Amino acid sequence: MVAVPDALPLEELEQLAVEVALEAGRLIVDERPAELGVAHTKSSATDVVTVMDQRAQDLIRGRLSRARPGDGFYGEEEGGSEATSEVTWVVDPIDGTVNYLYLIPAYAVSVAAVVGNPRVPGEWEPVVGAVVDPERGRVFRARRGGGSWLEAPGAGAVRLGTSAAVDLSQALVGTGFGYEAGTRWWQTRVLAEVIPHIRDIRRFGSAALDLCHVAEGTLDAYFERGLNPWDMAAAALVVTEAGGVVSGLGGEPPSSSMVLAAPAGLHAALGGRVAEGVRAADAEGSPGSG
Ligand code: IPD
Ligand code: CA
Repeated sequence: MVAVPDALPLEELEQLAVEVALEAGRLIVDERPAELGVAHTKSSATDVVTVMDQRAQDLIRGRLSRARPGDGFYGEEEGGSEATSEVTWVVDPIDGTVNYLYLIPAYAVSVAAVVGNPRVPGEWEPVVGAVVDPERGRVFRARRGGGSWLEAPGAGAVRLGTSAAVDLSQALVGTGFGYEAGTRWWQTRVLAEVIPHIRDIRRFGSAALDLCHVAEGTLDAYFERGLNPWDMAAAALVVTEAGGVVSGLGGEPPSSSMVLAAPAGLHAALGGRVAEGVRAADAEGSPGSG
């Protein structure tokens, strides 16, 4: 358990997270070059970074460090810094970069304030989260103990709650896939065990939005292996403040091994099925592993 200091200015942090995420959202929509190319790749040839990922992260980082110079920064793209305060910002400037590249309107800016060390699973806790979907003009936000809220064009802030689905066979479940072939093999093997037992699967291509869908009940649940803290930090808080449970498997904290998000009444059943899939995938080993 991570000790969360009582004296954190959560409302101020939440407002700052929303402001910078909105600003970065406007940047990536308004200044997207007509011929957007791939600036470089990361874990595989399909794990792309565009010039706008880096520009959005630079904007967010600059705004945060001017507002709160002692805070740490940990972002998906290059550049990070340790905190001298209790707060570290965990940022995905564009979650759903492949959608952004292909002009599919399902990507988000994710900004979280966390306490603890976000580089070590189980040793950090999000206290504030903002996820902005700039294409639909939707802002998901949460602060610890303050509930989860959605602001959308033409509507006031609406408090979010997860779906009431408790029967796994009726559950619409989101998931995602990593960029490396071996990880994808393993993920599809797990999915093969899960899919006969649920209503259906959805793969939208933005983990942050998938988690926000769980918070608003437009997905019943979500699981994925391979997420990084920046993919999930803000949206995991949006889910828990909406009454959902976010964990790894077998009571582990959420980590790159597994993130499983669901209403409390569905979480154990889905976790059981996913754990069976994991056992099957691990027992088979990936093709070429000998
Ligand atoms: C990816 C998206 C995708 C998920 C991958 C993530 P990125 O983030 O969230 O939905 O399946 O695991 O890496 O690369 O678009 O920031
Ligand atoms: Ca991401």
